[in-house]
Amino acid sequence: MRRATLQGNMAMVLHKLKPLRFVTLLLSSTIILCLYFENTGKLLNDTYHRVSENAACVYRTCSPDRERTDWFSARYAPTVQLLYNSRNRALRRDVWRWWRGLQKEPYFRNYTTVSRKLFPLFPDKNNYSESHPNHWRTCAVVGNSGNLLGSHFGPIIDSKDFVMRINRGPTKGFEEDVGSKTTHRILYPESAMNLDNSTHLVFFPFKILDIEWLISAFTTKHIRRIYKDVPSTITANKDKVMILHPEFMKYVYEKWTENHGRYPSTGFLTVIFALHICDEVHVFGFGATKDGNWHHYFDQTLTPYAYESHAGDFEYETIIRLHQEKKLLMYKGWT
Ligand code: C5P
Repeated sequence: MRRATLQGNMAMVLHKLKPLRFVTLLLSSTIILCLYFENTGKLLNDTYHRVSENAACVYRTCSPDRERTDWFSARYAPTVQLLYNSRNRALRRDVWRWWRGLQKEPYFRNYTTVSRKLFPLFPDKNNYSESHPNHWRTCAVVGNSGNLLGSHFGPIIDSKDFVMRINRGPTKGFEEDVGSKTTHRILYPESAMNLDNSTHLVFFPFKILDIEWLISAFTTKHIRRIYKDVPSTITANKDKVMILHPEFMKYVYEKWTENHGRYPSTGFLTVIFALHICDEVHVFGFGATKDGNWHHYFDQTLTPYAYESHAGDFEYETIIRLHQEKKLLMYKGWT
Protein backbone atom coordinates (compact mmCIF):
# COMPACT_ATOMS: atom_id res chain seq x y z
CA MET A 1 0.00 0.00 0.00
CA ARG A 2 2.78 2.41 1.07
CA ARG A 3 4.76 1.25 -1.99
CA ALA A 4 1.88 1.95 -4.40
CA THR A 5 1.47 5.49 -2.99
CA LEU A 6 5.19 6.09 -3.35
CA GLN A 7 5.23 4.92 -6.98
CA GLY A 8 2.23 7.17 -7.70
CA ASN A 9 3.99 10.18 -6.19
CA MET A 10 7.15 9.51 -8.18
CA ALA A 11 5.17 9.30 -11.46
CA MET A 12 3.50 12.63 -10.66
CA VAL A 13 6.82 14.34 -9.94
CA LEU A 14 8.33 12.99 -13.20
CA HIS A 15 5.28 14.03 -15.17
CA LYS A 16 5.44 17.58 -13.77
CA LEU A 17 9.13 17.92 -14.54
CA LYS A 18 9.81 19.19 -18.07
CA PRO A 19 12.04 16.73 -20.06
CA LEU A 20 14.93 19.24 -20.09
CA ARG A 21 14.81 19.66 -16.30
CA PHE A 22 14.70 15.90 -15.90
CA VAL A 23 17.83 15.42 -18.03
CA THR A 24 19.62 18.20 -16.05
CA LEU A 25 18.67 16.54 -12.77
CA LEU A 26 19.90 13.17 -14.02
CA LEU A 27 23.19 14.63 -15.25
CA SER A 28 23.95 16.54 -12.04
CA SER A 29 23.21 13.46 -9.89
CA THR A 30 25.57 11.41 -12.08
CA ILE A 31 28.32 14.06 -11.69
CA ILE A 32 27.84 14.20 -7.91
CA LEU A 33 28.02 10.39 -7.69
CA CYS A 34 31.16 10.29 -9.87
CA LEU A 35 32.89 12.91 -7.72
CA TYR A 36 31.98 11.01 -4.57
CA PHE A 37 33.41 7.73 -5.83
CA GLU A 38 36.52 9.40 -7.24
CA ASN A 39 37.30 10.95 -3.84
CA THR A 40 36.60 7.73 -2.00
CA GLY A 41 38.98 5.98 -4.40
CA LYS A 42 41.68 8.58 -3.73
CA LEU A 43 41.33 8.11 0.01
CA LEU A 44 41.66 4.36 -0.32
CA ASN A 45 44.56 4.62 -2.74
CA ASP A 46 46.31 6.99 -0.38
CA THR A 47 45.94 4.53 2.42
CA TYR A 48 46.51 1.24 0.69
CA HIS A 49 49.34 1.96 -1.70
CA ARG A 50 49.29 -1.07 -3.90
CA VAL A 51 52.53 -3.01 -4.12
CA SER A 52 52.11 -3.70 -7.82
CA GLU A 53 51.95 0.00 -8.64
CA ASN A 54 54.62 1.15 -6.24
CA ALA A 55 56.96 -1.83 -6.21
CA ALA A 56 59.67 -0.90 -3.74
CA CYS A 57 63.13 -1.02 -5.13
CA VAL A 58 65.83 -1.36 -2.57
CA TYR A 59 69.54 -1.51 -3.27
CA ARG A 60 69.99 -5.26 -3.05
CA THR A 61 67.79 -5.97 -6.05
CA CYS A 62 67.92 -2.81 -8.12
CA SER A 63 70.45 -1.60 -10.56
CA PRO A 64 72.01 1.38 -8.75
CA ASP A 65 72.29 3.48 -11.90
CA ARG A 66 68.71 2.98 -12.93
CA GLU A 67 66.92 3.12 -9.64
CA ARG A 68 68.86 5.34 -7.31
CA THR A 69 67.95 8.96 -7.33
CA ASP A 70 70.46 11.64 -6.37
CA TRP A 71 68.49 12.29 -3.19
CA PHE A 72 68.60 8.63 -2.18
CA SER A 73 72.23 8.08 -3.21
CA ALA A 74 73.34 11.10 -1.19
CA ARG A 75 71.94 9.45 1.93
CA TYR A 76 72.10 5.70 1.55
CA ALA A 77 75.38 4.11 2.64
CA PRO A 78 75.37 0.39 1.77
CA THR A 79 78.53 -0.38 3.74
CA VAL A 80 77.55 1.22 7.07
CA GLN A 81 77.93 -1.05 10.13
CA LEU A 82 74.47 -2.35 10.99
CA LEU A 83 74.91 -4.72 13.87
CA TYR A 84 77.45 -4.74 16.61
CA ASN A 85 79.87 -7.67 16.90
CA SER A 86 83.29 -8.50 18.31
CA ARG A 87 85.08 -7.49 15.11
CA ASN A 88 83.49 -4.08 14.71
CA ARG A 89 83.15 -3.13 18.37
CA ALA A 90 86.05 -0.66 18.27
CA LEU A 91 84.31 2.60 17.46
CA ARG A 92 85.70 5.16 15.06
CA ARG A 93 86.74 8.36 16.84
CA ASP A 94 83.91 10.42 15.29
CA VAL A 95 81.33 7.74 16.15
CA TRP A 96 82.57 7.56 19.74
CA ARG A 97 82.45 11.35 20.09
CA TRP A 98 78.86 11.53 18.80
CA TRP A 99 77.65 8.54 20.81
CA ARG A 100 79.13 9.70 24.12
CA GLY A 101 77.42 13.06 23.53
CA LEU A 102 74.06 11.25 23.95
CA GLN A 103 74.98 9.98 27.40
CA LYS A 104 74.27 11.76 30.63
CA GLU A 105 76.29 9.41 32.77
CA PRO A 106 80.07 9.85 32.85
CA TYR A 107 81.36 8.32 29.66
CA PHE A 108 84.64 7.20 31.16
CA ARG A 109 82.90 3.96 32.03
CA ASN A 110 85.04 1.20 30.73
CA TYR A 111 83.60 0.80 27.29
CA THR A 112 86.18 -1.79 26.24
CA THR A 113 85.43 -4.04 29.20
CA VAL A 114 81.69 -3.72 28.73
CA SER A 115 81.77 -4.40 25.02
CA ARG A 116 84.09 -7.40 25.52
CA LYS A 117 81.56 -9.04 27.79
CA LEU A 118 78.84 -8.88 25.15
CA PHE A 119 79.74 -11.39 22.53
CA PRO A 120 80.30 -14.52 24.51
CA LEU A 121 76.70 -13.92 25.61
CA PHE A 122 74.95 -13.00 22.37
CA PRO A 123 75.24 -13.98 18.69
CA ASP A 124 78.40 -12.53 17.22
CA LYS A 125 77.57 -12.04 13.57
CA ASN A 126 78.58 -9.38 11.17
CA ASN A 127 75.83 -9.53 8.63
CA TYR A 128 72.15 -9.91 9.15
CA SER A 129 71.84 -13.50 10.32
CA GLU A 130 68.97 -14.69 8.17
CA SER A 131 69.77 -12.93 4.94
CA HIS A 132 69.19 -15.13 1.92
CA PRO A 133 70.23 -13.99 -1.56
CA ASN A 134 67.48 -15.90 -3.36
CA HIS A 135 64.65 -14.80 -1.17
CA TRP A 136 62.72 -11.55 -1.70
CA ARG A 137 62.28 -10.42 1.88
CA THR A 138 59.22 -8.33 2.71
CA CYS A 139 59.14 -6.36 5.97
CA ALA A 140 56.54 -4.45 7.92
CA VAL A 141 57.77 -1.75 10.30
CA VAL A 142 54.99 -0.97 12.75
CA GLY A 143 55.28 2.32 14.63
CA ASN A 144 53.03 3.14 17.57
CA SER A 145 51.04 6.05 16.17
CA GLY A 146 47.35 6.38 17.04
CA ASN A 147 46.63 6.59 13.31
CA LEU A 148 46.58 2.79 13.27
CA LEU A 149 43.25 2.71 15.08
CA GLY A 150 40.46 1.73 12.71
CA SER A 151 42.93 1.11 9.88
CA HIS A 152 42.27 -2.65 9.43
CA PHE A 153 45.96 -3.02 8.45
CA GLY A 154 46.38 -6.21 10.54
CA PRO A 155 46.21 -8.76 7.67
CA ILE A 156 48.57 -6.71 5.46
CA ILE A 157 51.08 -6.43 8.31
CA ASP A 158 50.90 -10.14 9.13
CA SER A 159 51.46 -11.08 5.48
CA LYS A 160 55.07 -9.79 5.55
CA ASP A 161 58.07 -12.04 6.26
CA PHE A 162 59.38 -9.78 9.02
CA VAL A 163 57.13 -7.80 11.29
CA MET A 164 59.15 -5.31 13.34
CA ARG A 165 57.42 -3.76 16.31
CA ILE A 166 58.78 -0.97 18.43
CA ASN A 167 59.01 -0.58 22.20
CA ARG A 168 55.84 -1.65 23.98
CA GLY A 169 53.45 -1.50 21.03
CA PRO A 170 51.02 -4.35 21.85
CA THR A 171 49.14 -6.67 19.52
CA LYS A 172 46.63 -8.20 21.94
CA GLY A 173 43.27 -6.53 21.53
CA PHE A 174 44.44 -4.58 18.44
CA GLU A 175 44.92 -7.48 16.00
CA GLU A 176 42.58 -6.12 13.36
CA ASP A 177 44.54 -2.88 13.06
CA VAL A 178 48.11 -3.92 13.88
CA GLY A 179 48.22 -7.68 13.26
CA SER A 180 49.41 -10.38 15.63
CA LYS A 181 52.75 -11.50 14.21
CA THR A 182 56.05 -10.18 15.64
CA THR A 183 59.38 -11.38 14.31
CA HIS A 184 61.45 -8.47 15.67
CA ARG A 185 60.91 -6.27 18.71
CA ILE A 186 63.00 -3.11 18.89
CA LEU A 187 63.83 -2.25 22.50
CA TYR A 188 66.04 -0.26 24.82
CA PRO A 189 66.10 -0.71 28.62
CA GLU A 190 63.41 1.86 29.39
CA SER A 191 61.00 0.21 26.94
CA ALA A 192 61.96 -3.40 27.68
CA MET A 193 59.31 -6.12 27.87
CA ASN A 194 59.13 -9.92 27.77
CA LEU A 195 59.30 -11.58 24.36
CA ASP A 196 58.39 -15.03 23.16
CA ASN A 197 61.10 -17.47 22.19
CA SER A 198 60.87 -16.90 18.45
CA THR A 199 61.10 -13.10 18.45
CA HIS A 200 64.36 -11.29 17.75
CA LEU A 201 65.23 -8.73 20.38
CA VAL A 202 66.76 -5.87 18.41
CA PHE A 203 68.51 -3.80 21.02
CA PHE A 204 69.21 -0.10 20.42
CA PRO A 205 72.01 1.03 22.78
CA PHE A 206 71.71 4.79 23.16
CA LYS A 207 74.45 4.67 25.81
CA ILE A 208 77.05 2.41 27.39
CA LEU A 209 74.85 1.89 30.42
CA ASP A 210 72.24 0.37 28.09
CA ILE A 211 74.77 -2.27 27.05
CA GLU A 212 75.59 -2.90 30.71
CA TRP A 213 71.87 -3.33 31.36
CA LEU A 214 71.57 -5.87 28.53
CA ILE A 215 74.40 -7.93 29.99
CA SER A 216 72.96 -7.63 33.49
CA ALA A 217 69.41 -8.54 32.35
CA PHE A 218 70.69 -11.88 31.03
CA THR A 219 73.18 -12.57 33.86
CA THR A 220 73.36 -10.89 37.27
CA LYS A 221 70.07 -8.92 36.99
CA HIS A 222 71.48 -6.20 39.24
CA ILE A 223 70.68 -3.07 37.21
CA ARG A 224 67.22 -1.83 38.15
CA ARG A 225 67.46 1.82 37.38
CA ILE A 226 68.94 3.88 34.56
CA TYR A 227 67.32 7.30 34.18
CA LYS A 228 64.17 5.77 35.55
CA ASP A 229 63.24 2.33 36.87
CA VAL A 230 63.87 -0.45 34.38
CA PRO A 231 63.11 -4.17 34.61
CA SER A 232 66.07 -6.01 36.12
CA THR A 233 65.52 -8.85 33.66
CA ILE A 234 63.32 -9.88 30.76
CA THR A 235 62.30 -13.13 29.15
CA ALA A 236 63.77 -13.36 25.65
CA ASN A 237 65.74 -15.78 23.53
CA LYS A 238 69.34 -14.65 23.95
CA ASP A 239 70.34 -16.44 20.74
CA LYS A 240 68.08 -14.04 18.87
CA VAL A 241 69.49 -10.85 20.34
CA MET A 242 70.77 -8.33 17.78
CA ILE A 243 72.47 -5.10 18.82
CA LEU A 244 72.40 -2.02 16.64
CA HIS A 245 75.81 -0.51 15.98
CA PRO A 246 76.36 3.07 17.26
CA GLU A 247 77.82 3.89 13.85
CA PHE A 248 74.42 3.13 12.34
CA MET A 249 72.71 5.55 14.74
CA LYS A 250 75.12 8.32 13.84
CA TYR A 251 74.67 7.57 10.16
CA VAL A 252 70.87 7.85 10.44
CA TYR A 253 71.17 11.06 12.44
CA GLU A 254 73.52 12.76 10.02
CA LYS A 255 72.41 11.39 6.67
CA TRP A 256 68.70 10.81 7.13
CA THR A 257 67.53 13.28 9.77
CA GLU A 258 70.20 15.79 8.73
CA ASN A 259 71.11 16.55 12.36
CA HIS A 260 67.55 17.51 13.29
CA GLY A 261 66.54 16.77 16.89
CA ARG A 262 69.03 15.33 19.36
CA TYR A 263 68.99 11.81 17.93
CA PRO A 264 66.62 9.81 15.70
CA SER A 265 63.51 8.18 17.13
CA THR A 266 63.55 4.43 17.67
CA GLY A 267 60.89 4.08 14.99
CA PHE A 268 62.78 6.08 12.39
CA LEU A 269 66.00 4.14 13.10
CA THR A 270 63.99 0.97 12.51
CA VAL A 271 62.67 2.23 9.16
CA ILE A 272 66.20 2.89 7.90
CA PHE A 273 67.43 -0.40 9.38
CA ALA A 274 64.67 -2.17 7.43
CA LEU A 275 65.73 -0.39 4.24
CA HIS A 276 69.13 -2.01 4.71
CA ILE A 277 68.01 -5.57 5.41
CA CYS A 278 64.73 -5.94 3.48
CA ASP A 279 63.89 -6.02 -0.20
CA GLU A 280 60.49 -4.48 0.33
CA VAL A 281 59.65 -2.22 3.28
CA HIS A 282 56.07 -1.44 4.34
CA VAL A 283 55.70 1.28 6.98
CA PHE A 284 52.70 1.60 9.31
CA GLY A 285 51.90 3.63 12.42
CA PHE A 286 53.98 6.78 11.88
CA GLY A 287 52.66 10.30 12.24
CA ALA A 288 51.30 12.72 14.81
CA THR A 289 47.78 14.04 15.28
CA LYS A 290 46.72 17.02 13.14
CA ASP A 291 47.76 19.38 15.93
CA GLY A 292 51.22 17.84 16.19
CA ASN A 293 50.85 15.48 19.14
CA TRP A 294 52.65 12.19 19.49
CA HIS A 295 49.82 9.74 20.21
CA HIS A 296 49.63 5.96 20.58
CA TYR A 297 47.09 3.41 19.37
CA PHE A 298 47.13 1.68 22.76
CA ASP A 299 46.94 4.49 25.35
CA GLN A 300 45.70 8.03 25.79
CA THR A 301 49.05 9.82 26.15
CA LEU A 302 49.54 12.91 24.01
CA THR A 303 53.05 14.34 23.91
CA PRO A 304 53.76 17.40 21.80
CA TYR A 305 56.50 16.63 19.29
CA ALA A 306 58.35 19.67 20.64
CA TYR A 307 58.93 17.91 24.00
CA GLU A 308 60.64 14.96 22.36
CA SER A 309 64.33 14.75 21.55
CA HIS A 310 63.41 13.72 18.03
CA ALA A 311 62.57 15.68 14.91
CA GLY A 312 59.22 13.93 14.41
CA ASP A 313 58.04 16.16 11.55
CA PHE A 314 61.30 15.88 9.69
CA GLU A 315 61.36 12.11 10.12
CA TYR A 316 57.79 11.89 8.86
CA GLU A 317 58.55 14.01 5.80
CA THR A 318 61.58 11.83 5.08
CA ILE A 319 59.45 8.68 5.19
CA ILE A 320 56.99 10.33 2.77
CA ARG A 321 59.89 11.23 0.47
CA LEU A 322 61.16 7.63 0.62
CA HIS A 323 57.69 6.55 -0.38
CA GLN A 324 57.66 9.00 -3.28
CA GLU A 325 61.06 7.69 -4.32
CA LYS A 326 59.59 4.15 -4.23
CA LYS A 327 62.07 2.92 -1.66
CA LEU A 328 59.32 1.92 0.74
CA LEU A 329 55.55 1.86 1.00
CA MET A 330 54.00 4.17 3.57
CA TYR A 331 50.52 3.40 4.88
CA LYS A 332 49.12 6.58 6.31
CA GLY A 333 46.33 5.36 8.56
CA TRP A 334 43.32 7.37 9.54
CA THR A 335 43.78 9.97 12.28
O1 C5P B 1 56.05 6.25 21.26
P1 C5P B 1 57.04 5.23 20.85
O2 C5P B 1 58.45 5.78 20.83
O3 C5P B 1 56.98 3.94 21.60
O4 C5P B 1 56.67 4.87 19.33
C1 C5P B 1 57.48 4.07 18.52
C2 C5P B 1 57.84 4.83 17.24
O5 C5P B 1 56.68 5.09 16.45
C3 C5P B 1 58.44 6.20 17.51
O6 C5P B 1 59.82 6.08 17.76
C4 C5P B 1 58.11 6.98 16.27
O7 C5P B 1 59.10 6.79 15.28
C5 C5P B 1 56.79 6.36 15.81
N1 C5P B 1 55.62 7.19 16.21
C6 C5P B 1 55.17 8.20 15.34
N2 C5P B 1 54.08 8.94 15.67
C7 C5P B 1 53.43 8.74 16.82
C8 C5P B 1 53.87 7.75 17.74
C9 C5P B 1 54.97 6.99 17.39
O8 C5P B 1 55.75 8.40 14.26
N3 C5P B 1 52.33 9.45 17.07
